[in-house]
Amino acid sequence: MRRQLSRTRWFAFLLSAMVTALAVAGATHLAAQSGGDDTAPVMPRYDADGALHLPDDYLRWTFVGASLGLSYNDEPPQRESFNHTLMEPTAYDHFVRTGEFREGTMLVLLVRNTEADAMPARHGRFASDVLAVELAVKDKERVEAGWAYYDFRGAANLLPTAQPQPPGNRCYACHIDHAARDNVFLQFYPLLADAAGVTVD
Ligand code: HEC
Repeated sequence: MRRQLSRTRWFAFLLSAMVTALAVAGATHLAAQSGGDDTAPVMPRYDADGALHLPDDYLRWTFVGASLGLSYNDEPPQRESFNHTLMEPTAYDHFVRTGEFREGTMLVLLVRNTEADAMPARHGRFASDVLAVELAVKDKERVEAGWAYYDFRGAANLLPTAQPQPPGNRCYACHIDHAARDNVFLQFYPLLADAAGVTVD
């Protein structure tokens, strides 16, 4: 009888331990799924004249895509650039969860030169110096079109701040007319589209 009782207790203990373990695992899983919720959204910073500060950590943003030799002109370019697009990580988390570019989203385009013939490579090209650093920022309060475009020049003469390109210039027209989603060229970023589980229309 006594032996029976202790066995029952032992089972009760085991059961409660398992329930606790499951609850902890569930909570951890939920926290992991909501990833990014606890992180305060990083927003663009402007100076008193409305110029955008080039964020200190833009080179550590999340890589979303690359293009090789994409050119916007009819004539083929004299040399191909290798472009890299990165996205501010808290806006990236938001996009991956919701498929939306939230207000304050920042993307940077690094236009890089390419080189070849470096040992041990026999073929192919790789990215080299930065010719241009351009930012796109979603900020309806500042720009009627929703997004503002900034040119920080190249690595050799990088600007710490930049004023938005004047509304109606070529940056706005091309992005509004040809980008697949909300001014962003998602059609050239399959990595980002796949991560967010969205299809490009
Ligand atoms: C004729 C079309 C065209 C014009 C003009 C243009 N862009 Fe773009 N932009 C593109 C394309 C295409 C991409 C896709 C990435 C690439 O080219 O490697 C892009 C990507 C970008 C990105 C990365 C985020 C995104 O929206 O996809 C930024 C930032 C950007 N451009 C800034 C600028 C700025 C600043 C200007 C004006 C100085 C400008 N662009 C003018 C076509 C254009």
